Amino acid sequence: MNLRNHAAQILSKVLGEGQSLTRALAAGFPAIRESKDRAFVQALCYGVIRQYYQLDFILGRLLGKPIKQKDIDIRALLLIGLYQLQYMRVKSHAAVSETVAACKHKPWAKALVNAVLRQYLRDAQALQQACGDDPQAAVNHPDWIVARLKQCWPEQAADLLAANDQPPPMALRVNLLQGSRHDYLELLNEQGMAAHPAKFCETGLLLEQPVGVELLPGFETGRVSVQDIAAQLAAGLLDAQPGQQVLDLCAAPGGKTAAILESQPQLQALLAVDVDEQRLRRVTENLWRLHLQAEVLAADAAVPESWAQGRRFHRILLDAPCSGFGVIRRHPDIKILRRDSDIAALQALQARILDAAWSLLLPGGVLLYATCSVLKQENEEQIAQFLARRADALEIPITAGWGQARPHGRQILTGDSGMDGFYYARLGKQA
Ligand SMILES: C[S@@+](CC[C@H](N)C(=O)[O-])C[C@H]1O[C@@H](n2cnc3c(N)ncnc32)[C@H](O)[C@@H]1O
Repeated sequence: MNLRNHAAQILSKVLGEGQSLTRALAAGFPAIRESKDRAFVQALCYGVIRQYYQLDFILGRLLGKPIKQKDIDIRALLLIGLYQLQYMRVKSHAAVSETVAACKHKPWAKALVNAVLRQYLRDAQALQQACGDDPQAAVNHPDWIVARLKQCWPEQAADLLAANDQPPPMALRVNLLQGSRHDYLELLNEQGMAAHPAKFCETGLLLEQPVGVELLPGFETGRVSVQDIAAQLAAGLLDAQPGQQVLDLCAAPGGKTAAILESQPQLQALLAVDVDEQRLRRVTENLWRLHLQAEVLAADAAVPESWAQGRRFHRILLDAPCSGFGVIRRHPDIKILRRDSDIAALQALQARILDAAWSLLLPGGVLLYATCSVLKQENEEQIAQFLARRADALEIPITAGWGQARPHGRQILTGDSGMDGFYYARLGKQA
């Protein structure tokens, strides 16, 4: 198998069909046997998508005319070639010849790929200079995202843009039901994996080097999960008590569902709801691996009258669908696949689900609203509007060492203390 060609086919799904990179990689992986080959394909795909706006600008300069849509795989190969030359420690002659060889299914493209990559090598300095002078290519984000971030965070926007392009750390959540964080850290060290405890949450560990989950000791038996530290904060903030009924809305793939169950094993019940059946299967798989139990339901959180059957809950986690602007470093395809108009649609959906969730909360209960976004419209402004329309809602302030207090809720900006960008607000229902 030609790995560069395989990576180009995966990238074509993202760039041509609008598939998420996670999904396209998951579909493309089974054909690759060796884990080192998977790692190479993954590095190429993530690298190209992460640096897309720079690479695409340079490719535009190098091509006489745009490549036809039906040849999107050749465009992907050219981006792969440029990425290798600019960012990977592959020798340039090898990068060119291997990328040319990857055109074997479309021999006409060999000369084109060869010419474009060689011209890049000749003109690299001037091309980089031009890239730095172009407003969109210089910051490697589309203009509309830059504008949104500047509007919300004028002083921090440059840091946010830079943080979005950094590969994220690999964070682990230790399942304290199966052993302490200290013991697991020792186990990692014994296996030669350096890690250190995360600040702000007692379950978190940060690995110095990312590894495949299959190499994590006890992963298969549920000793540990992969989850960013910011996401791990949810269980502590929800603070579910023994005997309570908990609702986890928008739960898939179940990272926070499992974290809640690990932090409080004596709940009366936990109901995990998500509209996406395929993603919901991963909740069941994760719970099974971790030896945890919950009710799992495929349903629309905005229409609880069709599924809640009069049930009410002491605690509700609403991990709302959002722009994902706090996790661009993990999902760089967000920069390519999201549209500006999505934001208003997401805001409206969040408001509908929030109102619906509120109707399911018992008096005296607590709802934790969360997003992996840094946009104020999805976060503090969403909560301000909610509080204005609900006389029975009051905010329970979050006092913490992480993130920053906002007029409503608490915001973590991407990269703060190494964490993903996240937002939390805690709302109490008057008894
Ligand atoms: C941020 S993700 C949830 C992540 C999850 N809580 C975790 O920790 O693993 C948002 C989820 O909202 C779900 N979703 C979107 N619209 C929904 C709706 N109307 N009803 C229920 N779930 C919805 C999506 O399928 C997606 O799984």
